[in-house]
Amino acid sequence: MPFDAYERPIQYLRVSVTDRCNLRCVYCMPEEGVPQLAHEDVLRNEEIVRIVRIAVGLGFHHIRLTGGEPLVRRGIVDLVANLARLPGLDDLSMTTNGILLREYAVPLARAGLHRVNISLDTLRPERFRQMTRWGDLEDVLAGREAALAAGLRPVKVNMVVIRGLNDDEVVDMARLTLEPDWHIRFIEVMPLGAGVHWVGDGVVPSVEIRERIEAALGPLTPVYGEVGVGPARYYQLPKAKGTIGFISAITEHFCQYCNRLRLTSDGQLLPCLLSSATIDLRTPLRNGATDEELRALFLQAVVAKPRGHTLSEIACPSALPMSHIGG
Ligand code: 5AD
Ligand code: SF4
Repeated sequence: MPFDAYERPIQYLRVSVTDRCNLRCVYCMPEEGVPQLAHEDVLRNEEIVRIVRIAVGLGFHHIRLTGGEPLVRRGIVDLVANLARLPGLDDLSMTTNGILLREYAVPLARAGLHRVNISLDTLRPERFRQMTRWGDLEDVLAGREAALAAGLRPVKVNMVVIRGLNDDEVVDMARLTLEPDWHIRFIEVMPLGAGVHWVGDGVVPSVEIRERIEAALGPLTPVYGEVGVGPARYYQLPKAKGTIGFISAITEHFCQYCNRLRLTSDGQLLPCLLSSATIDLRTPLRNGATDEELRALFLQAVVAKPRGHTLSEIACPSALPMSHIGG
């Protein structure tokens, strides 16, 4: 597996398969959406498979499909099936808003997807509608059940916490982990996409979320097995079956644990979520580059990874919208 200039093992590739989405979460997009990529600029299934095959050959053994919303991409099940066949790929996952999971869970599991993360910021139907602009909470809850029934486990739920919007629900969310199969991760809202509106006051620091949970439900014990494999820190409540994770992009400098590259749906490799530096794979790919040439570009992206960022100080990070980068 490749190591970057700061001795971090880079083994995880997030692949955005579309910049489109069937929701408009208030912290991600404006209601009218963001300018969309032209169809011909988006990588075709066989192009994604070729890039991922090269990545897996280099030692990227975890591939996550993201969006936008990956399930709105046509041919997504075929894409999963073709990726799942690649030797050396140990972990093939997807981050989805869950809206379409009720119908897709079984086909995705059959195609070889291992597990899903679901974005869910509230348990209140009316609030869900407001935060996503038109989504139906029932679809997501049913989608989550369908994913569990289909064996796409563990299902992790991501909650972006915003002060004054949904932060009054962190204890309710945490309580769910007392039940089997609920794993919740609390994410500090980042100044990306429409998230810029909540920089500063809207950010609820992970320590504060943690204090509120512990005051209501008891002490959190660290879960050691998961530490060090990415930016999330995991804990458990007394007698809990599920885990509670914190992703503190603003208040903690977790860049030292960064293990990933990102591929946008138009074939740009991003060394860092917050860097505007990109490495274009699509042009060489369509101009007949050899595998060896594409491998060299991948390693170039690994080497280009910066040591880290200080998100709390960043005024204008990536020029790309969040739905384009894939979270
Ligand atoms: N800050 C933090 N998380 C965000 N996501 C989208 N926009 C933001 C933001 N501004 C999250 C989604 C999803 C993941 C792909 O990225 O909620 O869980
Ligand atoms: Fe869509 Fe995800 Fe953005 Fe919400 S956060 S609008 S589900 S891409």
